[in-house]
Amino acid sequence: MGGLARMTTETIRLTVNGRAREAAAEPRVTLLDFLREALGLTGTHMGCEHGVCGACTVSLDGAPVRSCLVFAVQAAGHAVTTVEGLAREDGTPGALQEAFAECHGLQCGYCTPGMLIAAEALLAERPDPTEDDIREAIAGNLCRCTGYVQIVEAIRLAAARARGGDR
Ligand code: FES
Ligand code: FES
Repeated sequence: MGGLARMTTETIRLTVNGRAREAAAEPRVTLLDFLREALGLTGTHMGCEHGVCGACTVSLDGAPVRSCLVFAVQAAGHAVTTVEGLAREDGTPGALQEAFAECHGLQCGYCTPGMLIAAEALLAERPDPTEDDIREAIAGNLCRCTGYVQIVEAIRLAAARARGGDR
């Protein structure tokens, strides 16, 4: 044998942030690389690339997944939401993003896209989460900067606002 086996590319069609998208990729390409490189959506961050840090978290059919552990072909036919999909229609930050900014829920920002996706999934399921719910929802998302307190606060604020309250 010898030499590298030639990988075939296939066209992957999926919905990303509400839009039908397609691009060619080899079967070994992760969803993370596909989003960043084939679709140009670089908001999803690459950290450890082996499922530990959570920086690459995206929503797959509403559930947060680590896009470094999913092959792009596995997402074919499914709906993916990335951090770019959390912005408002006019491109300004969405409610959760605003709350993170107000509460200083980010410093370097590296973990932030994954945190936001994890938080969004939590709030979709639990509009009135307890602090424990929030901490559990982001337990797989590592942040080296904030100590998590302001992140929890930001998610609580966004939840309260979505319910029509203040905090
Ligand atoms: S890059 Fe995927 S979990 Fe770290
Ligand atoms: S803000 Fe720097 S890793 Fe979380």
